[in-house]
Amino acid sequence: MKEILLIRRPQVDDIDGMLKIEGSVFHEPWTKSMLLHEMFSPLSKGWVAECSNALSRSSLVGYVFFWMVAGEVHLTRLAVDSSWHGLGIGSQLLRAMLNSGILENAQQAILEVRSSNAVARKLYEKCGFIQIGVRPRYYENREDAIIMQCDFTENYLG
Ligand SMILES: CC(C)(COP(=O)(O)OP(=O)(O)OC[C@H]1O[C@@H](n2cnc3c(N)ncnc32)[C@H](O)[C@@H]1OP(=O)(O)O)[C@@H](O)C(=O)NCCC(=O)NCCS
Repeated sequence: MKEILLIRRPQVDDIDGMLKIEGSVFHEPWTKSMLLHEMFSPLSKGWVAECSNALSRSSLVGYVFFWMVAGEVHLTRLAVDSSWHGLGIGSQLLRAMLNSGILENAQQAILEVRSSNAVARKLYEKCGFIQIGVRPRYYENREDAIIMQCDFTENYLG
């Protein structure tokens, strides 16, 4: 059955779908109040990916949240439902975030990613991020965080 992917702004009705994805893809899932806080923080922005089929059934399949502060986009959360991995949804959400930054005249995007998260690191590199540093033992399990940057004047691939 033909399916259509829509990238749109998040709304409160999306929280249940986000919680389901949080619980299935993260070791330390965000709670409902964390998601609501992110949705309503004046610094925070987001995009969600919604998939609809010909029967008009739609489901939330991914989302990204980011802060826009002092000319910088800071990624705070990116997740795609595991049944939809590898279909380009993460890339589309990331590009929507980067384009939002460019439209608001940000100079760069920054993120932290677990050193073991090879899939996410590959996705970020594909979208123009490069490693600029390491925060040793940053996560609760003492895993390092890799700091990555996408400089909109140099390495954003569009
Ligand atoms: C990371 C994540 C968002 C990627 O979403 P996705 O929709 O599967 O990503 P895409 O289909 O757009 O793939 C983008 C790139 O990631 C890489 N990638 C995707 N799946 C991969 C896999 N199984 N193995 C290696 N690389 C992979 C590839 O470089 C791919 O680009 P390509 O298809 O041109 O080769 C998703 O895996 C996820 O939700 N993971 C759990 C949460 C998480 O880790 N979030 C990021 C925290 S910083």
